[in-house]
Amino acid sequence: MSFPKDFIWGAATASYQIEGAAHEDGRGASIWDTFSKTPGKVENGDTGDTACDHYHRYAEDIELMREIGIDSYRLSIAWPRLFPDGGTTRNEPGFAFYNRLIDALIAAGITPAVTLYHWDLPQPLEDAGGWANRATVDAFEHYTRACAEAFGDRVKLWITINEPWCVSWLGYMSGVHAPGRQELPAAIAAAHHTALAHGRATRVIKQVVSDCQVGITLNMTNYIVPVDADAEAIKAADLLDAHINRWWIDALTDGQYPVVLQEEYGDMLSSVVLSGDAEILKTEPDFLGINYYSDSFVSTAREVDGALRDGGLFPFAERADTRVPEHLQSTLTDMEWPVTPEGLGVLAMRVHTDWPAIPALMITENGAAYDDEPDANGEVNDTRRVAYLTNHLASLQSAIAQGAPVVAYYAWSLLDNFEWAYGYAKRFGMIHVNFHTQKRTLKRSAHTYKQIIESDRVPV
Ligand code: FCB
Repeated sequence: MSFPKDFIWGAATASYQIEGAAHEDGRGASIWDTFSKTPGKVENGDTGDTACDHYHRYAEDIELMREIGIDSYRLSIAWPRLFPDGGTTRNEPGFAFYNRLIDALIAAGITPAVTLYHWDLPQPLEDAGGWANRATVDAFEHYTRACAEAFGDRVKLWITINEPWCVSWLGYMSGVHAPGRQELPAAIAAAHHTALAHGRATRVIKQVVSDCQVGITLNMTNYIVPVDADAEAIKAADLLDAHINRWWIDALTDGQYPVVLQEEYGDMLSSVVLSGDAEILKTEPDFLGINYYSDSFVSTAREVDGALRDGGLFPFAERADTRVPEHLQSTLTDMEWPVTPEGLGVLAMRVHTDWPAIPALMITENGAAYDDEPDANGEVNDTRRVAYLTNHLASLQSAIAQGAPVVAYYAWSLLDNFEWAYGYAKRFGMIHVNFHTQKRTLKRSAHTYKQIIESDRVPV
């Protein structure tokens, strides 16, 4: 069975993970510069100072995109390149870089899909309270307007915020991501402010850019409970589902948060929601971006409770040994996430059924970390990634056949890159990067992807 003729085949990256050039052309510091330079926060003390040096090598990288044959490239803009102080002072060389990049993509026949916020908040904004401070929403709106005005003549696909759950809960509650704070009220405020920022940014982009499409990207998963789970465990799993899957979707479709979350957080949540916010939260979406990596397994209510209290709450199987069912243990990727391809189709159908107001779905990330290196012939035979890719696409294809309105798939990632708290230790790329020489090598998965794109079919 084939994918629809106009299906968008893409690959994704994010600015801090690939660009490098952290101190060039007037770029300001972001929270990830600060965090990665704080001892003990990132594996091996890795930073994004050089990363894939994409800032200088973007032309070569676009050539590789062309070789794979992708229709669209999902990139993110580094806010501190455009506004180093997080305020209104423009840094023109930053705008010039993204103009060069966007022009080169279009010249190569590749449609840019731009994410405005993929986690590199200007440090001065964090110093003033970060996403826990409502003023950051104003700053984001200003930055968004500048991007829409500068790039909107050529960029028609916009994603406001990548994974606001990670922004708020990993950044402000568990602290495993920048800015590394561990404050529950701050996480809740950040969750609300990211939802608000999406609503405000969507309106601005729509105002400035004609015939564009705007959405938000969420990290989503299916919570699987054992067949014999008790009522308490089922209720607990529902609470996790409300955090991860429903928080931002309900906000944008209904203008309010799931009742279980309102009950769970009481004043901490209601005190940051001001009058008039419901109208801003409610946003007519053109599409929803879904990042899917794995299903999640919940066995007891106490486990969920513990995860909520210690801010763990990671959507995937963090403690793989205790949570992943026996039969999936052998499938764990280098992230220790189990491989559950059917889940992608199940999730697409669930979103289609539960939120019929969302007209289109884009899979904005999907992929796996495996550490395959070039062999004696210089080839990278990442057969496990090939299987991951083809099995997830087969699952997606069957959801589309059942009516799920999925219009795009972006593989994560184009290149091996800086994997946040894991530094360069985890490789998600379809292109291998030697971080000493910056040599790029297409892995077998890139060749498989090329065949899929050419035929609009998954090989059986
Ligand atoms: C997602 C992030 C992305 C990448 C993948 C593996 O949570 O959006 O930047 O790190 O995970």
